[in-house]
Amino acid sequence: MTRGRADGVQKKRLITFLCVVAIILGIVYFYDGSSFGSQVHNGASSLRKLGSSYLGGDDNSDSDSKDEATFKFGLEDGEDGMVPRSYPVCDDRHSELIPCLDRNLIYQLRLKLDLSLMEHYERHCPPPERRFNCLIPPPTGYKVPIKWPRSRDEVWKANIPHNFLAKEKQDQNWMTEKGEKIIFPGGGTHFHYGAGKYIASLANMLNFSNDNLNNGGRIRTVLDVGCGVASFGAYLLSSDIIAMSVAPNDVHQNQIQFALERGIPAYLGVLGTKRLPYPSRSFELAHCSRCRIDWLQRDGILLLELDRLLRPGGYFAYSSPEAYAQDEEDLRIWREMSALVERMCWKIAAKQNQTVIWVKPMTNDCYMEREPGTQPPLCRSDDDPDAVYGVKMEACITPYSDQTQRTRGSGLAPWPSRLTSPPPRLTDFGHSIDMFEKDTFRIWYRRYGKEGLRITGIS
Ligand SMILES: *[C@@H]1O[C@H](CO)[C@@H](O)[C@H](O)[C@H]1NC(C)=O
Ligand SMILES: *[C@@H]1O[C@H](CO)[C@@H](O)[C@H](O)[C@H]1NC(C)=O
Repeated sequence: MTRGRADGVQKKRLITFLCVVAIILGIVYFYDGSSFGSQVHNGASSLRKLGSSYLGGDDNSDSDSKDEATFKFGLEDGEDGMVPRSYPVCDDRHSELIPCLDRNLIYQLRLKLDLSLMEHYERHCPPPERRFNCLIPPPTGYKVPIKWPRSRDEVWKANIPHNFLAKEKQDQNWMTEKGEKIIFPGGGTHFHYGAGKYIASLANMLNFSNDNLNNGGRIRTVLDVGCGVASFGAYLLSSDIIAMSVAPNDVHQNQIQFALERGIPAYLGVLGTKRLPYPSRSFELAHCSRCRIDWLQRDGILLLELDRLLRPGGYFAYSSPEAYAQDEEDLRIWREMSALVERMCWKIAAKQNQTVIWVKPMTNDCYMEREPGTQPPLCRSDDDPDAVYGVKMEACITPYSDQTQRTRGSGLAPWPSRLTSPPPRLTDFGHSIDMFEKDTFRIWYRRYGKEGLRITGIS
């Protein structure tokens, strides 16, 4: 092959490559544009649905008009439609903006939210004219985050410029400031001596071997509500358990930000009026350590939401004064909670020191044996327990599907073989185990050949 021809081939390749890139960019751009448009629409209509008295921005007009001038959407009408310009950087004041969880916005829009139901901690997205189209700047002095696993125990102070929590929770060993860093000794309100010891004692209460909460892979998914800086979740990772930690952006500002900076799965959320964004039967264990949730409110609606999220035989570990304190008020709450969970067919698996662990039934049998008219009722048969986005919670018990009733439990394989074995609940959606295996075989074989099959364990 001569040199000239080789150059020609390369040129052709380069041109093809550039064309492909241009086409992809075009598609991405138009796709983004249209999805942005539809979000705008949804956001506005959901706000209207909330029955909000939305003021359209004439409130606080001086500061806002300045905002809008600075943060105008970085797009211009060019000859062939919209042409992207560069995006401006937001004002430093917005360095912690979370668009749908912005308390200033809620205040300015005068949404009529029920504070006692925690609605102000739920998502309320801004109408189009209130959206910022600018890049969020990092806080001053921001450093490249410390890597996992060291980040479990220390993060840069500059990256989360809030020392309120460190001061407030100093005595409880949540976290302390040390030079340029914040140190997490692994304590919590109810596990002053460290999350590791606390987790081992929970496993011990349940008679799990070697005090390992993982219980041979049978506990893999955990939901930690009111999680603080998520040390509980952080210390579960070494037992091969993943915990989703949830807390609102409340007086303990940015507890979730600390969790994420540490590298622990977490999100801002609240048990308020809407279902948490998980299908039914997602977690093997729920945990609340002094999470300050009133579980008795509204006919137990919040406890019933946890119940929806727990798998058959799932646990709820609860460490709170009601579980041990002997004063009149705590005793009253304990009695009422005990009565409620009994009607929900939960049983005490273990109770020790400051902690009680309840277990949810494996089947519908106990629900069916309740006296007619027992509260809380079973959910309506047309309720979809897996519909979650924007779905209101209801104070009812989610019964198990026919499949669960038949297999008398979730039938899930322990972790890690669960990763590749078909989840029995597929039959709820009309998919057979056979289909799952064929599909897995086809896809993995096509993409990765024999090596793919080795990964999935299919022979
Ligand atoms: C309960 O207390 C005993 C003795 O004080 C301790 O060994 C154990 O770990 C504690 N259990 C829990 C669940 O905290
Ligand atoms: C754990 O073992 C003790 C002693 O054998 C027993 O009394 C208790 O019921 C067991 N607890 C659980 C949750 O299995």
